[in-house]
Amino acid sequence: MVARHVECGVKAEHYPYVAEALLPAIRDVIGEGATDEVLAAWGEAYWFLADILIGKEAALYEEIAA
Ligand code: HEM
Repeated sequence: MVARHVECGVKAEHYPYVAEALLPAIRDVIGEGATDEVLAAWGEAYWFLADILIGKEAALYEEIAA
């Protein structure tokens, strides 16, 4: 994931845009099951993973630059 993102130029500032698109898309797909609790859990999971990816991607950008 990290390697592909870095190849594509994905940066930390792009993550909020994907979060903003993903949560409404999840609501559209799962419909009534998308309670506030479920959407909050997806948001938490997204940012848990995003924070890991952002850190590892920043390290790989630095390694490539060095
Ligand atoms: C937690 C957030 C994210 C997850 C879990 C995620 C996950 C993934 C995964 C699994 C892949 C495929 C990796 C591979 O080919 O081996 C991928 C590819 C990609 N991601 Fe993400 N991603 C996230 C956020 C983002 C963001 C913020 C952007 C930029 C707006 C982005 C843009 C891309 C692009 C351009 C590709 C390559 C697609 C392709 O090969 O056609 N991703 N991502």
